[in-house]
Amino acid sequence: MKIDILTLFPGMFEGFLSHSIIKRAIETKKVEINIVNIREYSTLPHKSVDDYGFGGGAGMVLRVDVLYAAIEALRGKDTKVILMTPQGETFTQKKAENFKSLSHIILVCGHYEGFDERILHFVDAEISIGDFVLTGGEIPAMAVTDSIVRLLDGVILKESKENESFQSNLLDYPVYTKPKEFRGYKVPDVLLSGNHKEILKFRKQASLEKTILKRSDLLEGTEWIDGKESL
Ligand SMILES: C[S@@+](CC[C@H](N)C(=O)[O-])C[C@H]1O[C@@H](n2cnc3c(N)ncnc32)[C@H](O)[C@@H]1O
Repeated sequence: MKIDILTLFPGMFEGFLSHSIIKRAIETKKVEINIVNIREYSTLPHKSVDDYGFGGGAGMVLRVDVLYAAIEALRGKDTKVILMTPQGETFTQKKAENFKSLSHIILVCGHYEGFDERILHFVDAEISIGDFVLTGGEIPAMAVTDSIVRLLDGVILKESKENESFQSNLLDYPVYTKPKEFRGYKVPDVLLSGNHKEILKFRKQASLEKTILKRSDLLEGTEWIDGKESL
């Protein structure tokens, strides 16, 4: 998979690309990630990329012609262009699962006041990472990239993903490590028992309880609510 990220601030991605799982995924060629400076595609004096918005208002607006030139220079036959915007559809694990099978994604990061609205005619999707406004699309693009890359085959162990929150309609089960007791709080006995059947049962139950407590909305319309699934 190839991910091109269009940004005005390529330096923001240095740490992101050079650590942990993302770094390893790049080194082992599970993914190719290119950080592309939008400014390179400006043919205007001083490589300008933005201007004041027509009709007034605070903040600079990214020009549609420059963004278009950058997108079209990178677009291939199977490319999906995704605009990072707080006005888009909220990103979810399900969307990450769908995106992971694409061969080429371009993520477009806005900045300042945003981009000229006409760019919407040239993108395939608008994605938000939540109902809050950030200064730019760089952090959203990192969040989206990270969540997709860790799902690619061979990036992390298959078993690590099996029970993860949102893979099904449940949150992940609680996990513990040493020490066995900390300030009076003990690791549940069953996890120390070596009885794998009981451990499995405990985890399934705990996962369901956590979901009911913290995110009962995830269970609406599922077999858990209808009582068809037995523990
Ligand atoms: C300051 S924001 C612009 C917000 C815009 N004026 C609005 O109110 O909808 C600048 C850029 O940051 C990015 N951005 C900010 N919040 C975001 C979010 N929650 N999800 C995705 N992108 C976001 C977008 O690329 C956006 O164009």
